[in-house]
Amino acid sequence: MAFALPLWLAVQEELLGHGEADSEAQSSFDDFDDGALFQLFHLTRPCIAFITDAVRIRMKSVALNKPALSLDAAVMVALNFYAHGVSSADVLQRLGLSQANCSEVICTVSAVIAGMADQFISFPLLRDAKTNVAASIQRVCGIPDVLGVLAPAHFKIRASPYEKEAFRSFVNTLGYTSVVSQIICDSDGNILSVEKCCVGSTFEQEIWDSSFKGREMEEELHGSYWVIGGKGYQLSKHVLTPVSVPANDSETRFNEAHAKIHNVMRITLGSMKRRFRCLMQLGFAQECSLDKKANIIKACCVLHNIAKKFSVPPPPVAGKIEPLHPGKQHSRPVTVNPEALQARKELILCYFVPEDA
Ligand SMILES: *[C@@H]1O[C@H](CO)[C@@H](O)[C@H](O)[C@H]1NC(C)=O
Ligand SMILES: *[C@@H]1O[C@H](CO)[C@@H](O)[C@H](O)[C@H]1NC(C)=O
Repeated sequence: MAFALPLWLAVQEELLGHGEADSEAQSSFDDFDDGALFQLFHLTRPCIAFITDAVRIRMKSVALNKPALSLDAAVMVALNFYAHGVSSADVLQRLGLSQANCSEVICTVSAVIAGMADQFISFPLLRDAKTNVAASIQRVCGIPDVLGVLAPAHFKIRASPYEKEAFRSFVNTLGYTSVVSQIICDSDGNILSVEKCCVGSTFEQEIWDSSFKGREMEEELHGSYWVIGGKGYQLSKHVLTPVSVPANDSETRFNEAHAKIHNVMRITLGSMKRRFRCLMQLGFAQECSLDKKANIIKACCVLHNIAKKFSVPPPPVAGKIEPLHPGKQHSRPVTVNPEALQARKELILCYFVPEDA
């Protein structure tokens, strides 16, 4: 994406002030060959150039409080951290920084990239966009009128075991400490929405109920569409869950279709965690300061979508892809909305009765 030259120069001027603009013309990333670039950032050169430009435009309003560091270098530090979860010696050496210098830079850049979500993470709003997303999902699994796959995405964090109460709040159903965000993706693994960053023990239903997307969907702002949700969600008129005990072939076929599209989320999160290894372990967290974690998660979602636009594959799988988090269900029985039950029943009757039945 090319920005008008005068604008670009104005931004440079504002950012760098005193005649440093000349050195900026050559990118710090030029020092690395393509192989090293992918190894350090898990992205390609055109993709990195695009990201740096996008950050430069946004950065106007955010002052880097380390003026010694060029914007290129700041982006480099952040991208390198996302890719590896720590800063590579190669990058630190080249920029003359220590590991300790980086956290503030990463924090600032993450806030800027997270702020780009309005541009790069978009839930389908227009009628055509909705129709297209739903048609793609139907092609994959046969379920009509679905706008996305909804899931809680858990990210490991460290919490102090000495603060017992807080520690316990971070422990999720798989028994490790995590924060959890709500993610919706399409059938191609693009992130359509990311919200919230809660302690790992939070019920995904509660996150949905209090999320913007959840409220918009349940209040019919998006029309009569579904999102696909796992067992941790309650069936509603807009969250389509699998049948808990399938009674016949139709329901079994529906559950298979549901599992097939739900699996897209597992692959998507797996690919995000491979590309952005910082998501494998987000470091120490305190209950009262989850904003920084939220920005890193959001920033990685933005970059994931950009990387997909540039068709940059994630690094190859090492080991097996983590399973999706099993749903966290309330143990007390919930009364399912009869209208929702009826709607799912009709959907199954319309689309999943075996042809020979
Ligand atoms: C990095 O940290 C050291 C020690 O805190 C400090 O003296 C130095 O100025 C920092 N470098 C930059 C570029 O911020
Ligand atoms: C399958 O079982 C459900 C639940 O008992 C029932 O409502 C539905 O009509 C059945 N479908 C077929 C095709 O028999």
